[in-house]
Amino acid sequence: MNHLTNIIRSAIKETGPLTIKEYMEICLYHEKYGYYMTKNPVGRQGDFITSPEISPVFGELIGVWLVHTWKTLGEPSKFSLVELGPGNGTLLKDIWTATAKWSKFQKAADVYLFERSTVLQKTQRQNLKKINVKWIERLEELPDKKMICFSNEFFDALPIRQFTFKNQKLFEKKISLNRENEFKFELVKVQKGFNTKPEEKKLIERAIIECSDTQIFILKTLCEKIKKLQGCILIIDYGGEYGTVDTLQGVHKNKYCDVLSNPGEVDITSQVDFGIITDHSTSFGVQPSKLINQSDFLRKMGILDRFAKLKKSSDEKLSQNHHAILHRLLSYDQMGSLFKVLAIKSSDLIDIYPFSFK
Ligand SMILES: C[S@@+](CC[C@H](N)C(=O)[O-])C[C@H]1O[C@@H](n2cnc3c(N)ncnc32)[C@H](O)[C@@H]1O
Repeated sequence: MNHLTNIIRSAIKETGPLTIKEYMEICLYHEKYGYYMTKNPVGRQGDFITSPEISPVFGELIGVWLVHTWKTLGEPSKFSLVELGPGNGTLLKDIWTATAKWSKFQKAADVYLFERSTVLQKTQRQNLKKINVKWIERLEELPDKKMICFSNEFFDALPIRQFTFKNQKLFEKKISLNRENEFKFELVKVQKGFNTKPEEKKLIERAIIECSDTQIFILKTLCEKIKKLQGCILIIDYGGEYGTVDTLQGVHKNKYCDVLSNPGEVDITSQVDFGIITDHSTSFGVQPSKLINQSDFLRKMGILDRFAKLKKSSDEKLSQNHHAILHRLLSYDQMGSLFKVLAIKSSDLIDIYPFSFK
């Protein structure tokens, strides 16, 4: 019997239906049996493959973007370089290799990793031996310095709540038990509306409204930091703007599955609502960019030239492999359009390539 099934059943019996956020908290982060606490889900052996795991060129291009942004910040002799949810550490490792020729940038960077999974922290320690990195438990621990922060597929992993608006009444989707003692979704009427304005935009009849106070708390901490000290945040994730459909999904071994099945063994994510992220950032006093898709971002950062150069020194088999990588990262039916890229900067900075700011 799956351990978390029993733990979640007892919690529901004791306190009533759980919000999706409470359910995700247990499934993802339970100290002993949580998804991120027991295994490494990232990579070919895991449940899903991310862009940095597909090709080192992804990290190279982010590296170039980071150096460019550091220059825009006036090449500070010390700044915080923060990665949220570094997975295997592959992205940072590739960034470091690619930026080796900018030794002033590397010397200036105090690198901080924000990672909740103890299993992945171990993998990061192993893979990032050559880089001087510090792990932080809370973003408030970041020192008062200029900051550049980046993340790939981090915000989609954070817990959300779901609401629906029916006959002008608001209901929360919760998890309860059916007669057979199995998990089921249930709509529970809520009295209070939303605390903040952006989410209210989605109050359309029959809309599914997804909100994540975990995402917004993290965003707020980072935005306040860059507002005070100058800096920029780069968010790469899958999602869209002001979606009103259910995007909660379970994935196990690269296949979609029921989010209520096998708690702790299934990856649970949702699409990031960049519209809401953008609106909140503005309210925190910083400047979000216009949203672009991953394909446009990587093309503008020179991915095609990079692969054209690699082609010159590749045999037929390697070239075919490169073609498959480009297809995966750029095609609209793959990661090219579902994945989006947003930059958020302090308003005292000039625009940062390749973004235009609102
Ligand atoms: C989908 S993986 C992405 C990994 C990596 N960025 C990549 O692109 O390969 C999500 C990452 O966020 C971390 N994570 C999830 N929830 C977190 C939280 N609440 N606080 C800090 N890290 C978290 C996971 O452990 C993992 O490293």
